[in-house]
Amino acid sequence: MNPRFQQWQLRVEDAIHNNLPSADTHPAQLYQAIHYALLNGGKRVRPMLAYASGELFGVAPEQIDPAAAAIEMVHAYSLVHDDLPAMDDDELRRGHPTCHKAFDEATAILAGDALQTLAFETLSCADATAEVRLQWIQQLASSSGAEGMVGGQMIDLQAENETLDREALHTMHRKKTGALIRASVLMGATPAQPDEVALQQLHTFAESIGLAFQVQDDILDVEGESSIIGKPQGSDQALGKSTFVTLFGLDGAKQQLQQLHQQANESLSPFGKSATSLTEIADFIIQRNH
Ligand code: IPE
Ligand code: IPE
Ligand code: MG
Ligand code: MG
Ligand code: MG
Repeated sequence: MNPRFQQWQLRVEDAIHNNLPSADTHPAQLYQAIHYALLNGGKRVRPMLAYASGELFGVAPEQIDPAAAAIEMVHAYSLVHDDLPAMDDDELRRGHPTCHKAFDEATAILAGDALQTLAFETLSCADATAEVRLQWIQQLASSSGAEGMVGGQMIDLQAENETLDREALHTMHRKKTGALIRASVLMGATPAQPDEVALQQLHTFAESIGLAFQVQDDILDVEGESSIIGKPQGSDQALGKSTFVTLFGLDGAKQQLQQLHQQANESLSPFGKSATSLTEIADFIIQRNH
């Protein structure tokens, strides 16, 4: 991995710590569960996208730290709730017992709730102009709520044991995973206030890579190994989930992944060499084995 990406992973770890009360804060069980969910590994792909997108417009990483931390808080909350018995009922996450297994269901629900509000508190207190803070809050709220991640999760649950058509499957993936990834890319660029043309190109990139991320996740659920992906292989099949693999088969899903990768690369071409980091993260998203 590009050493810059490792630096960004460390940066976001620090940014999270700077905005997170210590694990022995009262009530300690809640804070321990929050720490557990947020600091138990994770690829930190969304923060990396935000830093890389900022880099494209000359935004210094320290200007993006609060956004990177907030995005990862919302992402961690979404995983804690996604694993709950009422949702995917999974026992392994990032190679460890899921939050509700390590603690209990009620604690996991509350830890997720608290992570979500902590994300918005982090943005509202950020060292940035009021305009940037407001835009970040709007971007994260719309991508993670009913119009985005939460809406996608609802569709995902309702589609168990049903066959979605191509369009419905795209809509579900765009919302449940694509929206937060899109927001990560846009939030990284927000301090630079890019013009409409640049924003549109960035948007096209973010759309393609956001969808591609979930297509690869669907593929890894079939082809991956639990010890490498850090979560139970075959979870989608066991739950009768609608995925790119169930609709298009493994080869079909892989073909679509390549097309999305190509689209993502094409949308970055007008930026030239300054988009190298974003291009490399896109490559990682497509080729990752975990
Ligand atoms: C997993 O996301 C959930 C999806 C949206 C597909 P990641 O694969 O980014 O999970 P971590 O953060 O690295 O554990
Ligand atoms: C969940 O998709 C996406 C989220 C919003 C968390 P999955 O249910 O496929 O994610 P994994 O495979 O459990 O990480
Ligand atoms: Mg799920
Ligand atoms: Mg799941
Ligand atoms: Mg999955």
